Amino acid sequence: MTTAPASSPSSRPSSSPRPAAPLPRFPRDFLWGVSTSAAQIEGAVDEGGRGRSAWDAFAAQAGRIKDGSDARITTDHYHRYREDVALLEELGVGAYRFSVAWPRVVPDGGGQVNAAGLDFYDRLIDALLAAGIRPVPTLFHWDTPQALEEGGGWLRRETAERFAAYADAVAARLGDRVGHWITLNEPAELTLLGYGLGQHAPGRRLLFDALPAAHHQLLGHGLAVQALRARGATSIGIANSHGPTWAASRSTADTEAADFYDLLLNRLFADPVLLGRYPDEGLASMLPGPVADDLKIIAQPLDWYGINYYQPTLVGAPDPAATGSADFAGIALPPELPFAPREIEGYPRTDFGWPVVPEALTELLLSFRERYGASLPPIVITENGCAYEGIEDGERIAFLDGHLRALHEAMAAGADVRGYFVWSLMDNFEWAEGFARRFGLVHIDYATLARTPKASYRWLRAALRDQARG
Ligand code: NOJ
Repeated sequence: MTTAPASSPSSRPSSSPRPAAPLPRFPRDFLWGVSTSAAQIEGAVDEGGRGRSAWDAFAAQAGRIKDGSDARITTDHYHRYREDVALLEELGVGAYRFSVAWPRVVPDGGGQVNAAGLDFYDRLIDALLAAGIRPVPTLFHWDTPQALEEGGGWLRRETAERFAAYADAVAARLGDRVGHWITLNEPAELTLLGYGLGQHAPGRRLLFDALPAAHHQLLGHGLAVQALRARGATSIGIANSHGPTWAASRSTADTEAADFYDLLLNRLFADPVLLGRYPDEGLASMLPGPVADDLKIIAQPLDWYGINYYQPTLVGAPDPAATGSADFAGIALPPELPFAPREIEGYPRTDFGWPVVPEALTELLLSFRERYGASLPPIVITENGCAYEGIEDGERIAFLDGHLRALHEAMAAGADVRGYFVWSLMDNFEWAEGFARRFGLVHIDYATLARTPKASYRWLRAALRDQARG
């Protein structure tokens, strides 16, 4: 946690749409990829024996998704994956991060394995390998089987155990062709948005009583690592979301508020995994019972640590005079929380309103090195990207160019980063935002499902060819 840097207009990142200078050179074996997730792209929710997910149930409730949409079809990747693999091949990425839908593989979350569900990933992986692209599956990207959710979901320990059994089933079927595994995606967001604030599935508003969901996801991660290792996996990571927290001022009230926010969003999810302990004794009372033994499971050694980076957050003490809610990435926060995110001024913004601050990625990576030292395995940036309209998406090019330069700077300063994945290959179902936010390198026309590569796709393809020329 740091105080917000004083920024002068001349030191701000350029919003020039077409960076002219080539990117700095990354190591030859650097892993370049793009990311997606099952619930956001697959569609085909009633096919191949798939069970219902918590997101199916959530999106079916009136008023949950801002544009009234749902993900029953979305990009129809389930049927069009060959076309999407061709787009990946043409793009020239070495790796593709996607997620396996738990309700496709174990429709009720804990019973029979559905072989037809695994068939889909079998075909996808074969198509990727034939195109020379490494598959990087994430085992859980928020699509909890609804049957488990109805029993309490991640608030219950049993869900972590079910998750490990599912991980074992996936590894048994796909492990002969998968080199790299990711256990969980962003347990912080599922805890905060799904169980804490009710803005995401399952739509619960438990505030701090949501913390057992964090613990059980972390436990599920550790148990899944054990299951994958038992099946011979040698390259396992997690995809945690992180961003620097900046205090709104040097006042004690603001720095304490920012520190608490940083604890909840960053350290709560990284410390148990990397250090085998929770960051603050004060949180212990909100966790489910004694956790010492669980922490040993959670802290299984990882081969790499995945970071999803989007933006820094400026945080201050709540303003007692404020009547409305504070805003967190477009989401209203209840006034009773002991911190209040503030607007970051002076930077360009994406269509989501998120500030574009590439240098915060450098800051984040160097702060990780400082905090975790020898306990930190190599890092992979498992997501980074931005929401912009349009096919001539110069802003996305500027965003990616800026963040890759910032990443290179961190590496030059000693951060051990082995790969970078853009979020996302194509426009998709952006959770509670529906289809209104477009993160893709490839445009989706939701009426025809036509795929059209954007300017950013062509820019990245040229950049990757340039890197490959060495
Ligand atoms: C992180 C999540 O993992 C992903 O699902 C989401 O679409 C992006 N952030 C953009 O919000």
